[in-house]
Amino acid sequence: MGFTMPLGLAIRRRRKALGLTLQELAKRVDADTGNLSRIERGTQGLSEAMLRRLCAALDCTPAFLYAHAEAAAGASAQSGPRLSLLQPQEFVRWFRSVAPYIHAFGGRTFVIAFGGEVVDDGQFVALSHDLNLLASLEVRLVLVHGARPQVESRLKRAKLEARLVGGLRVTDDEAMEAVKEANGSIRVEIEALLSMGLVNSPMAGADIRVASGNFVTARPLGVREGVDLQHTGEVRRIDAVGIRKRLDDGEMVLLSPLGYSPTGEAFNLSLEDVAVSAAIALDADKLIFLMDTTGVHNVRGELLREMTADKARNLLRHVQKSGSQAISEDETYYLPAAIKACEHGVARTHLICRHTDGAILQELFTHDGIGTMITEMPLETMREADIGDVGGILQLIEPLEAEGILVRRGRERLEMEIDHFHVMEHDGLIIGCAALYPFPDERKAELACMAVHPSFRGGGRGDRLLHYCEDQARKRGIQSLFVLTTRTAHWFIERNFKEAGVETLPDARQKLYNYQRRSKVFIKRI
Ligand SMILES: CC(C)(COP(=O)(O)OP(=O)(O)OC[C@H]1O[C@@H](n2cnc3c(N)ncnc32)[C@H](O)[C@@H]1OP(=O)(O)O)[C@@H](O)C(=O)NCCC(=O)NCCS
Repeated sequence: MGFTMPLGLAIRRRRKALGLTLQELAKRVDADTGNLSRIERGTQGLSEAMLRRLCAALDCTPAFLYAHAEAAAGASAQSGPRLSLLQPQEFVRWFRSVAPYIHAFGGRTFVIAFGGEVVDDGQFVALSHDLNLLASLEVRLVLVHGARPQVESRLKRAKLEARLVGGLRVTDDEAMEAVKEANGSIRVEIEALLSMGLVNSPMAGADIRVASGNFVTARPLGVREGVDLQHTGEVRRIDAVGIRKRLDDGEMVLLSPLGYSPTGEAFNLSLEDVAVSAAIALDADKLIFLMDTTGVHNVRGELLREMTADKARNLLRHVQKSGSQAISEDETYYLPAAIKACEHGVARTHLICRHTDGAILQELFTHDGIGTMITEMPLETMREADIGDVGGILQLIEPLEAEGILVRRGRERLEMEIDHFHVMEHDGLIIGCAALYPFPDERKAELACMAVHPSFRGGGRGDRLLHYCEDQARKRGIQSLFVLTTRTAHWFIERNFKEAGVETLPDARQKLYNYQRRSKVFIKRI
């Protein structure tokens, strides 16, 4: 669903025109007020079900809201780029915030899959610019296109009826001709756009080639429910070595939903099957599906930014059992594909909206992304730090040291004390840390240098980090944790720390107490 921000604006304007408060509308559509506020501000997407409920409550149609959203988008485009990035400081901050991702993505393999609608609806031009940009950052790209609408229009033209058995298309000889034709023409169009887009684009001057070939071996699906599916097939093997060679040469690889059998027959495959099989065979770092909706939503219609494969399985089970309409048709294709990819070691699958300009860049280069990321394991993990984390920890604590919130530690001291540190990692980035210095004789430990990255504060991570440190301390036989703080006293008081005198500190720590800094001491029995 596109125009998230102006769509939110259109919803807000309609609500105001009807004289409804945020709370009143939230009640009518059975949504949380905070979520509705975020939808209106454009920081949270909305599901089709939620859009329908909103339209019913606002006595209008989705078309009405979209028309107003487009008008708002036009108006904001005319008012020029977002002011904030015109400020050099904002630009520098933004550039620094994306730098770790640029660094992390170089040399990684991403499989990006999109339906034939993206080409039919003219969205591939903008997408091609983003793909070229990623390629120029040395991301290894494998594109997988679909061709469903193109095949369907050819079948219609030839007055051929689509036959489905258990949700699978029967591809007879005539239908296979339409499939080959549709795939051939869409492939040519994509290759042309990938070559042409560069001249007048943000990536002018970049020289990126796209390779396609017989990389997919297929086999027939055979007979289902007594019906021969004929040329409908499934992936048997992906020529990962061949694809890697092309990627090593700096080319993008384009795969069609077609495969060939060793006997020389061609088979009609599904986009999901080719994309997932390619991602697994290439051991891809990311699999990305562009789809019609903004991502996966829970039963309340709220967009889920992240979900584990287990949660995705539960959601599908719930939808199947209850017959609920909570997920869109696209999700019924892509969620099982994401689960399969996770089960076979693809670390991350992203489901993002094809209607949002720059969706891939927003998903990849911002903390929260804009769609749903599906992973086998929860994204955030807590663990003991090791020497490789020193750079990440320094990035996190140096601004706080400069402000005097944390005591200054140089790189050298941090390297020496790294065994005392624990880190919270989010998608490969260090976003939190804390150190535990034990005083075993007193059964006490100091909790120090606790910090959460500013972009991730206020979400309970400080709490989780504290609980984790308490668990770690308990395992080491510690009975009390103490902290010395100048500015975060209340945070600790609210978490059952009690103020105490300097004399309650272990002797060795008292000797190091800095009477100039005059930190307050708080202690908690754990
Ligand atoms: C303290 C800190 C680790 C909390 O991280 P967090 O992920 O935001 O923690 P939580 O989400 O669990 O808690 C957020 C709550 O703490 C409150 N809070 C944050 N900093 C606070 C402070 N200095 N004093 C009092 N309360 C504070 C927030 O207002 C919020 O309360 P609310 O939910 O009622 O609005 C983080 O703010 C931080 O890194 N601060 C700078 C470093 C620091 O002070 N470290 C402690 C010294 S050892």
